[in-house]
Amino acid sequence: MGRISYVNGRFVPHGEAVVHIEDRGYQLADAVYEVWALFDGKLADAEGHFARLERSLSELRIRMPMSRAALTVVLKEAVRRNRVRDGLVYLQVSRGVAPRDHAFPNPEVRPAVVITVKGLDRTVVEAKAARGITVVTTPENRWGRCDIKTVGLLPNAMAKQKAREAGAGEAWFVDELGFVTEGASSNAWIVGADGRLRTRDTNANILRGVTRLTLLDVIRDAGLEVDERPFTPKDATEAQEAFITGAGSLVLPVTAVDGQPVGKGEVGPVAMRLRRLYIERARATAI
Ligand code: PDD
Repeated sequence: MGRISYVNGRFVPHGEAVVHIEDRGYQLADAVYEVWALFDGKLADAEGHFARLERSLSELRIRMPMSRAALTVVLKEAVRRNRVRDGLVYLQVSRGVAPRDHAFPNPEVRPAVVITVKGLDRTVVEAKAARGITVVTTPENRWGRCDIKTVGLLPNAMAKQKAREAGAGEAWFVDELGFVTEGASSNAWIVGADGRLRTRDTNANILRGVTRLTLLDVIRDAGLEVDERPFTPKDATEAQEAFITGAGSLVLPVTAVDGQPVGKGEVGPVAMRLRRLYIERARATAI
């Protein structure tokens, strides 16, 4: 059975899933997206991703294409049709299809909706987590609204390519003051020399990661201390551990930054414990 995707009200074979050439997502990156991790075919952190989707849409004055309840049904149906247990579901909502013009179409057009589902082999994913990844840094060069999860990801794509060419798994953006903002597709964390966890605060120009938010809760429940404040790449290499979070990476240890080892340069116990606790929480609350 092949992959099935959803395009504007219809489930179609993945290879035949197409959007119009004047979709504003395609022409102008006038679209937002969300990615949910799947555990046993269920959506992890569903509420957090829906809340952020609604906020992203509202900031761009795109209406919700359907109710949250209806969207949940469609997302779950997409997962079911693909028979995926572990993996990712991707949702994109664009402002819709209209003759190319920078300003919004008037009258409003129907938002366009695309859903794709991808299966992942948990054994492979866990083996990667056990090895950890390395990161490279790159100057922050994105627009001022990284809190909105838009598909305008060219700086992120270029940063990720830089990481790939350096043999690294992620790129961390560094702002003009020398602080890490976030990863190309993840949030960044360290376990400081004092044992306290640290991640950038959300007043900064970063995405308010849903995994980050859940993990903050998990951390507090585990009785660990966390500071939401900036850190530099040097703070990271002088830290005991570092890791990233995101729907794709969950909690993934970082062993080096720009070729400098983080702590002993090994996958750390705190990151691996938090990964396990996060997965337990996500599994238990998935819908
Ligand atoms: N990326 N920061 C950026 C720039 C991201 O793109 C992502 C997620 C995150 C983590 O957010 P969350 O925990 O809500 O997934 C932080 C998704 C997975 C992606 O682009 O595929």
